[in-house]
Amino acid sequence: MLRFETAGESHGECLVATLTGLPAGVPVSLDTINHELWRRQQGYGRGGRMKIEHDRAEVVSGVRHSRTIGSPVAILIRNRDWQNWTEALPVEDTDGAEDKKKPVTRPRPGHADLAGAIKYNFDDARYILERASARETTARVALGAVAKALLIQFGIEIASHTIAVGGVRLERSAAWEEVAALRGKTEVLLGCVDAEAEQRMKEVVDQAYRTGDTVGGVFEAIAHGVPPGLGSHTTWDARLDGRLAQAIVSIQAVKGVEVGFAEENAASFGSEVQDTIHYDRAARQFTRGANRAGGLEGGITNGQDVVVRGFLKPISTLRRPLESVDLATREPALAAYERSDVCVVPAAGVIAEAMMALILAQAFLEKFGGDSLGETKRNYEGYLKQVRDF
Ligand SMILES: Cc1cc2nc3c(=O)[nH]c(=O)nc-3n(C[C@H](O)[C@H](O)[C@H](O)COP(=O)(O)O)c2cc1C
Repeated sequence: MLRFETAGESHGECLVATLTGLPAGVPVSLDTINHELWRRQQGYGRGGRMKIEHDRAEVVSGVRHSRTIGSPVAILIRNRDWQNWTEALPVEDTDGAEDKKKPVTRPRPGHADLAGAIKYNFDDARYILERASARETTARVALGAVAKALLIQFGIEIASHTIAVGGVRLERSAAWEEVAALRGKTEVLLGCVDAEAEQRMKEVVDQAYRTGDTVGGVFEAIAHGVPPGLGSHTTWDARLDGRLAQAIVSIQAVKGVEVGFAEENAASFGSEVQDTIHYDRAARQFTRGANRAGGLEGGITNGQDVVVRGFLKPISTLRRPLESVDLATREPALAAYERSDVCVVPAAGVIAEAMMALILAQAFLEKFGGDSLGETKRNYEGYLKQVRDF
């Protein structure tokens, strides 16, 4: 069973992440992990924080001589901003520490601030927002890079692109090759495959900047080269579409998920939606008329690309703060403002890639197991032969 966990606060010393259950022998490159961390920090509309943090992963366990050794992989990413927070968020309480706190008593609508403060019984939402912040996703992206390193051994690749920012949409479909090519870009605007649509998306972000507002949007994440047979129809919690949906909606600010063309399909007739089944005798394999299902039927991968989309609400913190109430006085007050992003759709796509990689790697290892990469590969080859002979 592949398990993963993250820890760390937004302005604490560091983020920590562990991934347990990978076979030994998976090649892992620090440069590749760091490239994914860099991708998460890109995109037009990011706030000041991204200028401070140039994330670097330190792999402190589970990898030796560039390969996993079967033990838990542990990764640490230091917060460069910590130097400005040592007195506000010390681990140990000391005399006078109270005066150096940076309390948040005017909870921000759309954040965990108020619900978390009530639940954990704090009169200061600082401890809540420190963990609720999307800074945590840095750790997920680091782990996702390791999961991707496993998947690539089996020809499975993941990429993402932006299909909407605010009300501006990409009005055409994108080929896998176009989306995959975005991963190699050294400059990221809004992560859209179409330059003209991307310019229109930029104008929406500019408008939000001008007016002290924020925008949301939609990303699409695609897994290519996935074999048929991951996930299962047999129990509700084995259905891979459900597991992917949870992983995607767990990303901060993502409020909806689509598997394949779910929204469009819901407004169409069945005859227009289901992916017809054909057989290519020369290649001795089944083919499909389209991929509207997003590569999943009955919670099982069907051999087509797995396609999921995430819908982001606009960023909650506004430069033009919203109405709130002061926790101490209960009087009306404007919500607290801390340096904030205006648009994060491309970054959310990169995080979704990581979550998809982790969930697919989990499902892959459930099916093929193996304590070493060689063993997993033997099991996989045996299954591919079964599929060929089917
Ligand atoms: C990559 C990324 C960066 C984010 N940056 C900010 C930010 O700078 N300011 C902000 O208010 N929300 C930001 N968010 C969204 C909040 O973290 C999120 O809305 C908040 O934690 C409440 O969670 P919820 O929206 O999932 O309910 C970001 C989200 C992502 C995915």
